[in-house]
Amino acid sequence: MTIPPRLELKAIAASYADLQVLQDISLTIRPGEFVSILGPSGAGKSTLFRLLTGALKPSRGDILFDGSPLDTASSPFAFMPQRDALMPWRRIIDNTTLGLEVQGLSRREARKRVEPLFAEFGLTGFEQHYPSALSGGMRQRAALLRTVVQDRSMLLLDEPFGALDALTRAGMHRWLEGMWMRHQWTAMLVTHDVREAVHLSDRIYVLSPRPASIVEVVDIPLPRPRSRKGAAGAEAARIENAILETLLGPHEGQSS
Ligand SMILES: Nc1ncnc2c1ncn2[C@@H]1O[C@H](COP(=O)(O)OP(=O)(O)OP(=O)(O)O)[C@@H](O)[C@H]1O
Ligand SMILES: [Mg+2]
Repeated sequence: MTIPPRLELKAIAASYADLQVLQDISLTIRPGEFVSILGPSGAGKSTLFRLLTGALKPSRGDILFDGSPLDTASSPFAFMPQRDALMPWRRIIDNTTLGLEVQGLSRREARKRVEPLFAEFGLTGFEQHYPSALSGGMRQRAALLRTVVQDRSMLLLDEPFGALDALTRAGMHRWLEGMWMRHQWTAMLVTHDVREAVHLSDRIYVLSPRPASIVEVVDIPLPRPRSRKGAAGAEAARIENAILETLLGPHEGQSS
């Protein structure tokens, strides 16, 4: 018997009132895969996540989770929203337990779950600090800790590193790849950063501008962990450039 995909979108369309945002989205994510959705700003990437979390209903198409129609009420996703998800008035430890407390765990039980993870997330010693005392990268790791500790079947990450500088972001990519390899999460990442998508993904779905459909599906067969050295680095750069061409169209004046 074959295992059904963890998540399958079939010919999805979605609108806000008379604004059509998604036109025709089909994609498949198998258990343990890291898949990215790459598209221009305003294409409808965050809207895709709103369909998965139940905030919006598709106007057409089907969403299957583990082979059955998605029941958004059972919330099988741990979702890290696009904008800084930390509450400035709660200490880091209390921010990271928030999702578990919402699920009904006592603060004590929730702390027991998150505390062993602080070291792995590079946050040891900052449990009692407020978010404002952390660097941008640390804040994103804290938001990610809060997301993954909920132990759901799948992670949804909406531009988790969009607000970081390029160097911090590159460090976070390396770190997240290592965490993903160790924990075998099933993850769907939304981004407009081509390099980020190539570093992290098993497969990338490239979106057109709104109303979005999928213009290209790119498998990334590079070995992991993905260094930027030697042949692997050259191949990563080649894939990046090819995707950029798709997103931007060919150079002006280029003969064909
Ligand atoms: N709640 C809403 N009500 C009405 N229109 C909305 C709503 N949310 C988003 N939109 C519109 O839908 C379109 C897609 O928005 P969405 O946030 O999904 O884009 P995105 O791809 O995530 O963009 P970005 O990369 O900038 O985050 C935009 O034109 C936006 O103005
Ligand atoms: Mg968005």
